[in-house]
Amino acid sequence: MASLHLGDTAPDFTAPTTEGEISFLGWKGNSWAVFFSHPADYTPVCTTELGRVGQLSDEWDKRHTKVIALSVDSIQDHNSWKPEVEAVSKTTIRYPIIADPDKKVAELYDMIHPGEGDTSSVRSVFIISPDNLIKLMLTYPKSVGRNFDEILRVLDALQLNETGPFATPADWRPGDRAIVSLDIPTDAAKELFPDLDVVKPYLRYTGSPSV
Ligand code: BEZ
Repeated sequence: MASLHLGDTAPDFTAPTTEGEISFLGWKGNSWAVFFSHPADYTPVCTTELGRVGQLSDEWDKRHTKVIALSVDSIQDHNSWKPEVEAVSKTTIRYPIIADPDKKVAELYDMIHPGEGDTSSVRSVFIISPDNLIKLMLTYPKSVGRNFDEILRVLDALQLNETGPFATPADWRPGDRAIVSLDIPTDAAKELFPDLDVVKPYLRYTGSPSV
């Protein structure tokens, strides 16, 4: 079983999808990517999740982010379930869904958690940067649908952090103030950010550039 960590290069693979065969890193190119797994086709929570991701297609595009889903179901199941998800969610699913019946990709990304009931994939999420590094890993149990607004928020925070020496505080939203990284001494931070608000020597805020 693979053990992936933040900062690792996302492993590459080739797999059949609802949009044809894909070589993952080639398909991704130099975009951001959200790669998420779901336990099974024709199940209630997964139907709402895949629909929600479809409804957010403009939001992914705004963030230069490609989205791809995976489950261990067959391509035939994906192709017959997808129109049902679209009808229920009143949306079009434009992103590919990987068919992984032999669990090759799910094992590569450690998406199989037998403690969750069987050997299907759990609700994993990976955010991958343009340079193919894993920037976020999330694992949810089968019974809890994910909050994709939170995934968008993390994308916004990661993209902000790449524009300067920033970190984001708890519950940060785009437009909120950002924290100036501890890599920048306070004197230098004051020069870089004249609005610097020094709450503590280790907690300094500046007005956040918009993302
Ligand atoms: C669901 O998405 O609701 C679900 C997934 C796997 C097993 C049971 C339910």
